[in-house]
Amino acid sequence: MSISSKELLYKKADDYWSHIPATLDGVLGGFGFISGIDIEGSKKFLKSIFCFENPPSPDVALDCGAGIGRVSKYLLMPIFGKVDLVEQDKKFLKSVKEFVGSDNENKLGSLYNVGLQQFTPDKKYDVIWNQWVLGHLDDEDLISYLGRCRQ
Ligand SMILES: C[S@@+](CC[C@H](N)C(=O)[O-])C[C@H]1O[C@@H](n2cnc3c(N)ncnc32)[C@H](O)[C@@H]1O
Repeated sequence: MSISSKELLYKKADDYWSHIPATLDGVLGGFGFISGIDIEGSKKFLKSIFCFENPPSPDVALDCGAGIGRVSKYLLMPIFGKVDLVEQDKKFLKSVKEFVGSDNENKLGSLYNVGLQQFTPDKKYDVIWNQWVLGHLDDEDLISYLGRCRQ
């Protein structure tokens, strides 16, 4: 049975990430040393959102394409009361609890092991965060995913 180009796109990404170690350097493709400055930039952007006239509540966030939980640990958990994570790679998701640490145990919410192209949020989030992942979706799936998030 032949595989469609769309299925091939996701299979290739799946295969690639399945060979990458569950480390900070791994999820940043060997650029682990930029994590600090990357998070600083994200903090500035997130802070600017809290300056809106109608800012989101700092209650529940969703970290999409979360890897081992780097963005959850350093950006979202210090601000939000609860953070759920979506990640297609089982091994990364398994390492999240240990990576975010016991200090963040009470902030860790649901972990969803699914690709964003198939994911539909089943609750309302104050912020849905996508960092270093949307390039993995094709245009059609990206538009449809963003539409499901907005709903
Ligand atoms: C460059 S890493 C970034 C991880 C994390 N966002 C961070 O900044 O540390 C990309 C992540 O996206 C995940 N990913 C790739 N394709 C995905 C898809 N279709 N749906 C959900 N996650 C995906 C990979 O498994 C990997 O964990």
